[in-house]
Amino acid sequence: MPSKRSGDDRRPEADTVHHQRFTVEYDYPVHFTEGVFEPDNSLLLDVLDRRDEGRRHRVFVCLDQGVVDGNPSLIRQIKDWFHHRQTEVELVGTPEIVPGGEPAKTDWQLLQDILVALGNHHLCRQSFVLAIGGGAVLDMLGFAAALVHRGVRLVRMPTTVLAQDDAGVGVKNGMNEHGMKNFLGTFAPPFAVINDYQLLTSLPDEHWRAGIAEAFKVAIIKDRDFFDLLCQKAGALARRELEPMKEVVRRCAILHLDHIAHNGDPFEMGTARPLDFGHWMAHKLETLSEFRITHGAAVAAGIALDSYHAMQQELISDADLQRIWNGLVECGFPLWYPEMDLRDGKGRLRILEGLEEFREHLGGVLTLTLPSPIGARVEVHHLNLDLVEAGIFALRHREQQRARSTA
Ligand SMILES: NC(=O)c1ccc[n+]([C@@H]2O[C@H](COP(=O)([O-])OP(=O)(O)OC[C@H]3O[C@@H](n4cnc5c(N)ncnc54)[C@H](O)[C@@H]3O)[C@@H](O)[C@H]2O)c1
Ligand SMILES: [Zn+2]
Repeated sequence: MPSKRSGDDRRPEADTVHHQRFTVEYDYPVHFTEGVFEPDNSLLLDVLDRRDEGRRHRVFVCLDQGVVDGNPSLIRQIKDWFHHRQTEVELVGTPEIVPGGEPAKTDWQLLQDILVALGNHHLCRQSFVLAIGGGAVLDMLGFAAALVHRGVRLVRMPTTVLAQDDAGVGVKNGMNEHGMKNFLGTFAPPFAVINDYQLLTSLPDEHWRAGIAEAFKVAIIKDRDFFDLLCQKAGALARRELEPMKEVVRRCAILHLDHIAHNGDPFEMGTARPLDFGHWMAHKLETLSEFRITHGAAVAAGIALDSYHAMQQELISDADLQRIWNGLVECGFPLWYPEMDLRDGKGRLRILEGLEEFREHLGGVLTLTLPSPIGARVEVHHLNLDLVEAGIFALRHREQQRARSTA
């Protein structure tokens, strides 16, 4: 058979092919609740029972240090919860605590310690890892759970706004390596996700806020009504009102889930990555700042910059651009950072390296998402670098004016 590529027809006669094809269906519940470890709350047991009711479930619990520090009675509550149900569930060992934030997914020793602990406790493929923490800890534990026996059951209990409305509900995990965010990782849908809103109340302000940026992101490219709601509730969100936050978390998580289920590319085989609107710069900003700037805050700046681009290309109106910028600022996000002005030895903006890294991560063809108009999106394959510079200039100017007016 001649090769389409070269016209070469020298293939052995005996060369045959069998096309292997099968489909694996994934499904997992995402619960929105409060007080999951209160003594009479049996939601977690129902979750564990989903596939094997009647079995005594073995559960390895691992928590983010930040959650433990913010909720000093949580470990006691967890132990009591398991103790009261000991005929149905076994708490494997004692709950492990790991450092939170980016170090969790950058430290190989930590990953190895978890793998060894899972081995020492003889977890089987039907046992559970219950991961309680922010997106970084969930990414590391998800990676560990995906590796042991090629995948043990993972129940995620996200504890930041960003983890509840984005990172913790999806199908990916990741570790940072090679100077790049998420250079390593797997696609591994969880067994279940439980979002307990109460856990959000102990968050420091910057992490309360961070997940709001992801809500703006998905609203701007998918849901104009949700964008309107975010603009309307920005002040209440900044004042840390829990009721509007619950709605934001739930709507944002469901938009992410719908996207994964219905966009036709849950495991990101193609080169488009609509949910990464604003992220090419965000990832670079995080690494350039050595993670001083949180993922969410970096995403807010990334959204602001790419929205400027969209406005200049008449994909959104100037009024919409101002609503995006004002909404993000009202939630408490700076939209410009000194790292956005850093240049290399040849005078090029360092953040532009983020475009190349993003292209490489996607697999060759740069595909970026821009709003067109608000609530819908368009894919583009290159950015006008002069507009990127002009956007940074506009954001710096706006930030300087704001700093002067509040001084
Ligand atoms: N896998 C995915 O699909 C996906 C998607 C988006 C983002 N992410 C990743 O998620 C990470 C960001 O996650 P994040 O925004 O949740 O932040 P984070 O995990 O970095 O946590 C932020 C800080 O909050 C602390 N913390 C967590 N919960 C707390 C609580 N309830 N009370 C007090 N402190 C608490 C942590 O200890 C940490 O210090 C990034 O690494 C990003 O790449 C992954
Ligand atoms: Zn993100």
